[in-house]
Amino acid sequence: MTGTSDRKPLASVTAELLAKYDRPGPRYTSYPTAVEFHEGFDAKRYLLKLEEAALKPEEPLSLYVHLPFCRERCTFCGCNVIITQKPGVAEAYLDDLEREVNLIADRLGKRTRLVQYHWGGGTPTYLTLTQMRRAWEMIAKRFTFAPDAEIAIEVDPRVTTRRQAELLKELGFNRISMGVQDFDSEVQEAVNRYQTFNQTRDLHLYLRELGFESINFDFIYGLPHQTPESFRKTIELALELRPDRVAVYSYAFVPWIKAHQKAIHLEDLPPRDVKLQLFGIAHELFLGAGYQQIGMDHFALPADSLAVAARARSLFRNFMGYTTHPARDYIGFGVSSIGDLGGAFAQNTKKLNRYKDALDLGLPPIERGFERSRDDEIRRDVIQELMCNFHLDLPEIEARFDIRFADYFADALRELDEGPVPHGFVRRNEREIEVTETGRLFVRNICMAFDSYLKQKEAEKKPIFSRTV
Ligand SMILES: C[S@@+](CC[C@H](N)C(=O)[O-])C[C@H]1O[C@@H](n2cnc3c(N)ncnc32)[C@H](O)[C@@H]1O
Ligand code: SF4
Repeated sequence: MTGTSDRKPLASVTAELLAKYDRPGPRYTSYPTAVEFHEGFDAKRYLLKLEEAALKPEEPLSLYVHLPFCRERCTFCGCNVIITQKPGVAEAYLDDLEREVNLIADRLGKRTRLVQYHWGGGTPTYLTLTQMRRAWEMIAKRFTFAPDAEIAIEVDPRVTTRRQAELLKELGFNRISMGVQDFDSEVQEAVNRYQTFNQTRDLHLYLRELGFESINFDFIYGLPHQTPESFRKTIELALELRPDRVAVYSYAFVPWIKAHQKAIHLEDLPPRDVKLQLFGIAHELFLGAGYQQIGMDHFALPADSLAVAARARSLFRNFMGYTTHPARDYIGFGVSSIGDLGGAFAQNTKKLNRYKDALDLGLPPIERGFERSRDDEIRRDVIQELMCNFHLDLPEIEARFDIRFADYFADALRELDEGPVPHGFVRRNEREIEVTETGRLFVRNICMAFDSYLKQKEAEKKPIFSRTV
């Protein structure tokens, strides 16, 4: 059951279908999603998980470090960010971060080998050269890197200097992700993010000169004042630089969670049919330029490891995004970071003062988490496979979990048969479920059929998630 590749798969989506499917839904960077995390999972439970983790010293780890600072806020931003220009705040944060790293590394004992390491933010290159080196060394002293480890960082071309780029190379980063969002000046003005094409191009060229082989650009569709014409220009400009990967994120407009997004006027946002068209343009232009679609919202050149893994249907996804080789266990450092250890999610506090207070007491700054049940694990695998590989091998899931798929997921299959299958978004038989080219944009909706928490949330009718399109 293999789908044909179509460069305009979204042209067949009618306004009626779009209205039906464009509804609030999770992005499934985790299952269960972070809204299910609760305070019953606390620092003490996390300490037990660390003790268990230390018993398997040969098993690898993924590690994320959150560096939350930015100089100014882009009004669209949905990340956990601290806006400050005050000197000293970042230095004090690094003091706390170092205490957290040492506390956790002491508990992990000989469990030190990293296969995936990521600095995210905020803007990690907000830090000075000395601070970046310090952040690097505090981890490098306590952990070791597998020879082929993915070592990634998010950078903002507006603030990243050549000296910082050189330092990243020297330290051993091998993947760079740059925020671009949109090159159009009217859009930039509306979201308080002024970034010239030259800033992006200069950093990109310098990174290439330094020998970086994996460069990603982030774009967002659905921002205020974006039009099909302006977005086409943005993507065409991106293609002049030919990054290895691009993310084209659907704008998550969640002003009830991120109050600063209220600065964005609803009437300036493109209506849903235009928003779909914007993604269609990115899809058409990237595929036309030889890129391959990766998961819901990424594109990569065919030789890129993500594209290779996508073809082999061996892609994974975690809080750091799509990846080729995550470890089963995942440690998060820094405010708001989320870890996944021994079958439980654990999230640090988002507040700097609470982060410090916990470390003063010698405790991990965990605020909430979630211990997954067997049912959660089964659904998580199903959702992960669909989000990453658009495909489910039913006998394989049955063997892995000792279930009969048709019985275990009878409700979900019924839901698919009542909508996504007749609408042409999903094909299925007794052995496989496959998301079609058109269905890829709606993969969040398709996964929602397998989400056992969502029904309850929908009944409560409180806004939680951004819209799926
Ligand atoms: C931490 S930022 C990237 C690094 C750096 N701070 C920058 O902006 O250049 C991560 C990415 O999340 C995406 N993002 C942020 N807020 C978003 C939102 N509300 N909806 C969709 N994507 C968003 C942006 O594409 C951004 O580049
Ligand atoms: S998009 Fe990047 S630079 Fe802008 S506020 Fe968010 S994290 Fe900071």
